[in-house]
Amino acid sequence: MAFIFNKILVFVIIAVSTATSSPLNDSCTISSYDSVSSVVSSCWSIVMESFTVPGGQQLTMNLMTGATVTVKGTITFEHNEWTGPLVQIYGSRITFQNAGGVFDGQGASYWDGKGGSGSTKPKFFRIKTTGGSTFNDIVLKNCPVQCVSISSASDTTLKGWTLDVSAGDKGGGHNTDGFDLSSSHGITIENAVVKNQDDCVAINQGYNYYFRNMTCSGGHGLSLSVGLNKNSGDVNTVRNVTFTDCVVKDSMNGIHIKTHKDGGDGAITDVTYNNIQLSGIVNYGINIQENYANGGSSGDPVGNVPITNLQLSSVTGTMSGGKKSMAVYILCGTNGCSNWNWWDVSITHAKKTNSCNFTPNGFTC
Ligand SMILES: *[C@@H]1O[C@H](CO)[C@@H](O)[C@H](O)[C@H]1NC(C)=O
Ligand SMILES: *[C@@H]1O[C@H](CO)[C@@H](O)[C@H](O)[C@H]1NC(C)=O
Ligand SMILES: *[C@@H]1O[C@H](CO)[C@@H](O)[C@H](O)[C@H]1NC(C)=O
Repeated sequence: MAFIFNKILVFVIIAVSTATSSPLNDSCTISSYDSVSSVVSSCWSIVMESFTVPGGQQLTMNLMTGATVTVKGTITFEHNEWTGPLVQIYGSRITFQNAGGVFDGQGASYWDGKGGSGSTKPKFFRIKTTGGSTFNDIVLKNCPVQCVSISSASDTTLKGWTLDVSAGDKGGGHNTDGFDLSSSHGITIENAVVKNQDDCVAINQGYNYYFRNMTCSGGHGLSLSVGLNKNSGDVNTVRNVTFTDCVVKDSMNGIHIKTHKDGGDGAITDVTYNNIQLSGIVNYGINIQENYANGGSSGDPVGNVPITNLQLSSVTGTMSGGKKSMAVYILCGTNGCSNWNWWDVSITHAKKTNSCNFTPNGFTC
């Protein structure tokens, strides 16, 4: 009798404990900011419902290896003048996916037309994942300033993202970069739509980056900006980057590569732009300048960050026809440019004639 009673008791205890830790629907749904850290530290399958992140706080998700996060709700961030980022994701082999959710940075409450040099605005979404992580169909709206930064990440793929800062076009959005990449390697971004007011993609540092089917509008184009760091070496190095099958429209530039002569030495090697379609480009279709200093183009170019093996194929389309428009501008420092191979580069409707102090193979300036 006692034996049977014991068995029943054990059964009841197991049943009760299974019910209270009901994995998917109770403890593993995040519906308030307060529950984030306990859910993230104990669940492999997490659902994010709608909630608000208090001003000045960070939505930090230090995910368990192999965790899956599904975003179902609208996650908003209260206004606060701090540097952010508002969201920071860590983890290895994670899957971050969307099911109707949105991250809304409430940009309109910050925009003053001055971006990074006006009032302090938080960066939005930082990714620091590794080990074959994927982020699918994520939607970010109204970035206060830079939208996504991928930093100290590796082996991570972003697919089907939407970054929509179009409300900032007339609303004072500025420096709202789409994807910024540094200190990372093995990053793929595909099928992304970016509507913003600065670079669609900006690469500062890193290697083995692949971008396919990006559709960029309103911003500054597909960019590399290298040499900002005062130290020399890897901190100012970009290697093996491909952009393929991308569209850039109604933007300041199509392709933009700038090197900073007031920083350290570095290198840009093995960069390919293939099948890039441009339309309504206001300033430069292709703009490559080795003379940035103090944040702007200035004076004579310097070859401290040489650009070697730059391939362009099928870069075609139209400028806006406005008075600043120039299809191709190339300004290389001494020994700053070598082994550039361009074919089928054809951009029409420019008002100004091209300007090149270096001529790529296969291209007539
Ligand atoms: C959790 O919710 C989903 C959908 O709402 C449902 O299909 C599933 O059976 C629930 N699981 C548990 C353990 O209650
Ligand atoms: C390109 O991306 C868009 C937007 O995500 C998507 O609708 C389209 O199917 C993609 N095309 C290809 C060929 O992957
Ligand atoms: C260049 O990067 C791609 C990933 O984008 C990778 O598959 C390829 O192996 C890399 N090539 C070299 C030579 O490292």
